[in-house]
Amino acid sequence: EEWEEKGAAVGVRQETDVNGRPVLKHVKKGVKDFHFGRTLGEGSYSTVIAATDRQTGKEYAIKVLDKRHIIKEKKVKYVNIEKDTLNRLTDHPGVVRLYYTFQDEQSLYFVLDLASSGELLGVLKQMTTFDEECTRFYGAEILDTIDYMHARGVIHRDLKPENVLLDDQMHVKITDFGTAKILDQPKKPPRDHEDGGPETGSPMDGADVNRAKSFVGTAEYVSPELLTDKQACKASDLWAFGCIIYQLLAGRPPFKAGNEYLTFQKIVNLEYQFPKGFPAVAKDLVERLLVLDPARRLSVEHIKNHQFFDSVTWGRGLWRQKVPQLK
Ligand code: ADE
Repeated sequence: EEWEEKGAAVGVRQETDVNGRPVLKHVKKGVKDFHFGRTLGEGSYSTVIAATDRQTGKEYAIKVLDKRHIIKEKKVKYVNIEKDTLNRLTDHPGVVRLYYTFQDEQSLYFVLDLASSGELLGVLKQMTTFDEECTRFYGAEILDTIDYMHARGVIHRDLKPENVLLDDQMHVKITDFGTAKILDQPKKPPRDHEDGGPETGSPMDGADVNRAKSFVGTAEYVSPELLTDKQACKASDLWAFGCIIYQLLAGRPPFKAGNEYLTFQKIVNLEYQFPKGFPAVAKDLVERLLVLDPARRLSVEHIKNHQFFDSVTWGRGLWRQKVPQLK
């Protein structure tokens, strides 16, 4: 069947054998092992619900997907992409971790890290703008996570402040890998700007009208190469990163117009401006990221070495530090 499970995640439960001796039994987790609570979010194909593991008390976010709806709308491929990418990205604090998957007759379930402070977009809207220190911190955590994803052969392709979640300590957790691209050779020495070749499943693929439609309202972060060549590469995530840095400091994304088409026109014409008072060093960084030719965009290493991130100590320490107070 379509949803057959390979190497499914298991839990461990202690039981007693015929002689009364304790044995550890591997048991696959299922719906009954969780207490479902409040709804965290609703998408077109899924609902995310806060849930508690009845055995451990640990809290999770469980993404529930309706099988019939997904099959009817031809989204099986995207659900599998999400599961496969998350299963590759289990070793970094900046990615929402997938702990278990299971299913019942009606639904698929992805048991994920709970990011209890919600979307970066929501926090930004409350603050209006971030100061340089907060932008540097959140920018650094996002970039460190992009670096990890790319090293593991994954291009996200839909980075935006809605997909950057925050946990209870206000650290970053990137989510929504349903439109990610897995590169063929994940572990070869990183070369900048390489990609997996021509796309058939890009988010803007004309053959997938619904996918294109689902981009209405989030067109603001799409890279010019996706619009002109229908091709995404690692550098496409860094275009989106440039848009996010701009947005944190300016309070709005750089390319925004009355409709999707006009937004796309602005993107391919590099039509944007900095508001008065935008910090000069950050402006220099954004100008080197919002470059039409992906091959000429700054690489992750060059971004890390840019003056804007001078005071950042890269690596796991970022994730242990106390986060700067939003003001
Ligand atoms: N909304 C979508 N995914 C979520 C998650 N993992 N945690 C909290 N809210 C979410």
